[in-house]
Amino acid sequence: MAPRPIIIDTDPGQDDAIAILLALASPEFDVLGITVVAGNVPLKLTEMNARKICELAGKPETKVFAGCARPMMRSLVTAEEVHGKTGLDGPELPDPAMALQDQHAVDWLVETLRAAAPGGITLCTLGPLTNVAAALVKAPDIAGKIAEIVMMGGGFFEGGNVTPAAEFNIYVDPHAAHVVLSSGVKITMHPLDVTHKALMTRTWIDSLKALGNRTGAAAAAMLDFYERFDMEKYGEDGGPLHDPCVMAFLLQPDLFQGKDCNVQVETGSELTMGMTVVDWWGVSGRPANCHVINQIDAAGFYSLIHDRLARLP
Ligand code: RIB
Ligand code: CA
Repeated sequence: MAPRPIIIDTDPGQDDAIAILLALASPEFDVLGITVVAGNVPLKLTEMNARKICELAGKPETKVFAGCARPMMRSLVTAEEVHGKTGLDGPELPDPAMALQDQHAVDWLVETLRAAAPGGITLCTLGPLTNVAAALVKAPDIAGKIAEIVMMGGGFFEGGNVTPAAEFNIYVDPHAAHVVLSSGVKITMHPLDVTHKALMTRTWIDSLKALGNRTGAAAAAMLDFYERFDMEKYGEDGGPLHDPCVMAFLLQPDLFQGKDCNVQVETGSELTMGMTVVDWWGVSGRPANCHVINQIDAAGFYSLIHDRLARLP
């Protein structure tokens, strides 16, 4: 079966890093490029982190493009308290030797999608949706070239993680999320309702260290740092690993369950700004615009990540 052409849009971030490593380790994907957005930390750090991760994976030929440095309407909100001041605290990774691509990520997204066959490329979004929304606003015709958008973002029964109502990726750029959710593109959303059902364990993180490769050692160091915030916040013995759900869903969809729903985003009220209003029970009469995931086989998920990271240097 031919590899699936994908573009990863990301704001690394330790959980983004694991997702990117999982993608780069999986021959089922043809990673056309990585587009980077401001989110967990400012753009100059997220693009640096994306290149560090590609080099860690032994894939310095991967094309990395810097995109939008701030949300469409609102000021940038970052999450150094979670990810550290570099956005990738934990391991000591060398400054990247691989170059950042000159072209702006939004322009490359438009150019690449326009050149693709209808439904030819899957977008995997791991951060605020600013780049993807900007591309859709600049070139609405690209919607037909997107096979589907698989995104990490949102929350409903689980509430929010940056406010009581909103999950970080959506909260940072709610207007971009509205553009994407109203684009007509096929969307699968992995909200906190599913990512909070797959908590890391000490045994699993230690199994990464035991892989004996540099990827396992660096990943374990990232996650040792990253999970402390959520463990303290939620009082659990492990933290959620949000972004790799996107890649795992494409690799092994049977690990997940969900349903088609209408999803809208709050862009008016400051109290609920960025809330994803998921019509799970179909009471609004609004047509479904998103497949919302709410169940995961956590053991299978972590086994998949472990086994794929073992393949990297
Ligand atoms: O709310 C979790 C999401 O926000 C993840 O994508 C994490 O990397 C941050 O971007
Ligand atoms: Ca992210």
